[in-house]
Amino acid sequence: MKDLLRLLDLAPEQITKILDTADMLKAQQKAGIKHDFPAGKVLAMIFEKNSTRTRVSFETGIYQLGGTGIFLSSSQSQLGRGEPIQDTARVLSRYCDCIMIRTFRQEEVEQLAKYSTVPVINGLTDTWHPCQVLADLQTIREHKGKLEGLKACYIGDGNNMANSITVGCLKAGMRVAIASPKAYSPDKLALDFAAGYGDKFLLTEDPKKAAEGADVIFTDVWASMGQEAEKAEREKVFAGIYCVNDEIMALANPGCMIQHCLPAHRGEEITEKVFEEHALDIFDEAENRLHAQKAIMYLLMKGEL
Ligand code: CP
Ligand code: NVA
Repeated sequence: MKDLLRLLDLAPEQITKILDTADMLKAQQKAGIKHDFPAGKVLAMIFEKNSTRTRVSFETGIYQLGGTGIFLSSSQSQLGRGEPIQDTARVLSRYCDCIMIRTFRQEEVEQLAKYSTVPVINGLTDTWHPCQVLADLQTIREHKGKLEGLKACYIGDGNNMANSITVGCLKAGMRVAIASPKAYSPDKLALDFAAGYGDKFLLTEDPKKAAEGADVIFTDVWASMGQEAEKAEREKVFAGIYCVNDEIMALANPGCMIQHCLPAHRGEEITEKVFEEHALDIFDEAENRLHAQKAIMYLLMKGEL
């Protein structure tokens, strides 16, 4: 596989390979062992949306692999002046060994990958956030010792996270329940995929129903990047209902984890209390962005995925 654009494109064995590699790289980094990776690789990182974790974890990751990262914002590169993505792909492919992109439309990432001769990694689009969910699966497996048979619940907007959780968790052998308002359901691509999993997948408008017997509860902001203008309208629909609080946690299995990709809006999709009680889960998750993405870069640039 040349690129990592969507979890839909990965076989379950490829997901396991990424998670195993992430665990290996994490252990090596903690023990101060040098990674078995060719030195001097260059990662171009295109950002058309804001970022803290994705930017820092990718740049730190390529550095720890013995290479370097180049940050390109749309406002400071020619992309912001309308240079086509096809040309950007062909230019960056002549200089760099891998390209990461965070943008709006998934089609933009697909075009970049089509014209690029080097691996392309999706660092978030409006539809998918594959790197995040690979880090989440690594975290859940670390905490629970397995993925197969666990129940994942997502409460909130049917956004890039909901889509990626649906696909990633089902492929990892988990059951998935998504609670979203009807008008804010996950993308058709994710729902069509989930339809093949029968009663292992549940879509409901009721967060309580989704949380019953959950081993991990995910949530995310009600308005994603690019949806700022819809914030007030969305608040009316989500407020007081799509919030992970003590009442929701009481319905889950004992020891239920919380995963939040961050940034979090305390008092909106999650209470301050639940967030702080599960801070270890959430910041382990944030840390694993580094290890999971190192695994993705390692495998793609070595041609081993
Ligand atoms: N979770 C995540 O992708 O964070 P950033 O937006 O800070 O990169
Ligand atoms: N759904 C959020 C995730 C941020 C990491 C967004 O797209 O803004």
